[in-house]
Amino acid sequence: MAMKLEKVVPFGRSLDEYMKMFNLTKSDVNKHILGVGDGPASFNAEATKIGVNVTSIDPIYQFSGNEIRKRFNEVVDNIIDQVKASPDDWIWSYHKSPEDLKSNRIAAINEFISDYERGKLEQRYLTGELPQLNFKDKEFDLALCSHFLFLYSDHHDYQFHFDSIQEMLRVSQQVRIFPLLTLMLQRSPYLDRITQEFRKLGYTVSIVKVGYELQKGGNEMLLIS
Ligand SMILES: C[S@@+](CC[C@H](N)C(=O)[O-])C[C@H]1O[C@@H](n2cnc3c(N)ncnc32)[C@H](O)[C@@H]1O
Repeated sequence: MAMKLEKVVPFGRSLDEYMKMFNLTKSDVNKHILGVGDGPASFNAEATKIGVNVTSIDPIYQFSGNEIRKRFNEVVDNIIDQVKASPDDWIWSYHKSPEDLKSNRIAAINEFISDYERGKLEQRYLTGELPQLNFKDKEFDLALCSHFLFLYSDHHDYQFHFDSIQEMLRVSQQVRIFPLLTLMLQRSPYLDRITQEFRKLGYTVSIVKVGYELQKGGNEMLLIS
């Protein structure tokens, strides 16, 4: 699996952000969870500490912790500058300011890096990528995908989204995806068709409002079971 790290924005979110983005409840955290495209999120590290059974897959796990941190350091200031240059695009309720966002992203990657080697040995961080996952049918109760599908609609086409979601549903009872917006803050052009197609296939599909919003208007997740 060839991947160029310089194409990746390794920004990661915390357990608390995952709880809010995906409306995770106490009963959800007793489930066997797959995090798809978890990157340098501290979700797995923090969740493991409190006894949650989480496996994360991401193509960047072929790289070392030092390489991932180096890439983060290369891009972080530029991204925060872009955020500062578009003040109307963001909601500062969870993160209080661009500087607060930066320090929360630094805290997340620090927590991730401190857990990464151990997590790899424990097979909690596995190299893999959509649209194909190396897991058995229904190995997980819940598959989460944060800030990859729909967000990168300009980089991945409808078929990639359809195949990826179908694959997540093959390995998991339920799938949740957040956000539903693209990087340009538009609702993904694939969302309506994805909703219709999976309903036709017999799945229950809903768009659920959540208590987390950073991209303006980005406070909904897709839930398919
Ligand atoms: C913006 S980061 C989001 C990280 C994490 N999910 C979060 O929200 O904190 C997007 C992640 O998607 C990963 N990614 C890129 N291509 C992928 C693919 N084909 N399948 C799964 N993940 C992929 C990247 O390596 C990166 O870590």
